[in-house]
Amino acid sequence: IFAAVEMAPRDPILGLNEAFAADTRAEKVNLGVGVYYDDNGKIPLLGAVKAAEKARLEAMPPRGYQPIEGPAAYNNAVQNLLLGKDSALIANGQVITVEALGGTGALKVGADYLKRLLPGATVYISDPSWENHRALFESAGFPVENYPYYDAATRGVNFAGMKAKLEQLAPGSIVVLHACCHNPTGADLSDAQWNDVVEACRSRGLVPFLDMAYQGFADGIDADAVAVRAFSASGLQFFVSSSFSKSFSLYGERVGALSIVTAGKDESARVLSQVKRVIRTNYSNPPIHGGAIVAAVLSSPELRQMWEDELAGMRERIRAMRTGLVEQLKAEGVAQDFSFVIKQRGMFSYTGLTADQVERLKSEFGIYAVSTGRICLAALNSKNIGYVAKAIAAVVKG
Ligand code: LMR
Repeated sequence: IFAAVEMAPRDPILGLNEAFAADTRAEKVNLGVGVYYDDNGKIPLLGAVKAAEKARLEAMPPRGYQPIEGPAAYNNAVQNLLLGKDSALIANGQVITVEALGGTGALKVGADYLKRLLPGATVYISDPSWENHRALFESAGFPVENYPYYDAATRGVNFAGMKAKLEQLAPGSIVVLHACCHNPTGADLSDAQWNDVVEACRSRGLVPFLDMAYQGFADGIDADAVAVRAFSASGLQFFVSSSFSKSFSLYGERVGALSIVTAGKDESARVLSQVKRVIRTNYSNPPIHGGAIVAAVLSSPELRQMWEDELAGMRERIRAMRTGLVEQLKAEGVAQDFSFVIKQRGMFSYTGLTADQVERLKSEFGIYAVSTGRICLAALNSKNIGYVAKAIAAVVKG
């Protein structure tokens, strides 16, 4: 039965991890996947997570099935982070949240539910977008198209192009929006531009799907929720996928959530019942550990403060790496102005390196980046930044 099966291509992002693991060079650096490493090149286990895990280990709770949608304590904590704890939408019962297997799992549950709700819709993603967006919505059965986003000339957003495109989409089209720390470009919309996007969604009757995998990595937890808050003030219905992979450094625990804002409490109950069917026929109910840790941290004022401080530390270290890289490239005699790296937000820089240059970084230096030129600044540290700057200088100088 498998004789005619063809080899699938490696995943454009996670496939780099496989190639990196197989590389025997001691000086190798993985700037591919969006993962935060500390200054020693290690994925941190946050102090707040450690404390919550210690308490759980001591309590040794039983491991029964979870509710299909995940535990209320976790789902409520997610809603408070996204919408603010005083949100009228939460108080009105207009928000449903289900725990999901990371941000990817949240997108997939949302996509599968949307396919049942709006089977004839087209999904629009930014040009460019996270590699998995297209694949994921296509695998849910949707045609996927682009809306203009990145402007290579200004290294910012082509907002006029984006807005014009949104304003001509068919009603009922699904628009996937990066709520903050745009992946891969690091170019975000301004607050005023978000208001324009909300208006375009309202006037065209679009279905907004906000993807927020990096809350806290640009300016802070509330500041990074500006897009979600703009939609929540609008009276529109919308979807949000969110993730604790990066903000809690819990990548492998697969802790995320899908939240849906409805028109009212009764609608919420009906929508939740349908989303639960999607989950039940897929993986039944979510695992316990990661969500329990996140809920424990967010419900303890002391642990929450510890987490916010640790998250701020990660954010600030990435910023320092941005400045450091720009300075070191200059010191290496690179004539091209790389100062845009400092302005980009979140974990990534869309460097403008060509696929050939990325290939040379890998083959000559053991430095792995996404072929589009995206590098993860959160993998730089005080020991490897000089080496990386030298390597980039070598490939850009020819
Ligand atoms: C990334 O873009 O590198 C991360 O979101 C990890 C992933 O799942 O692709």
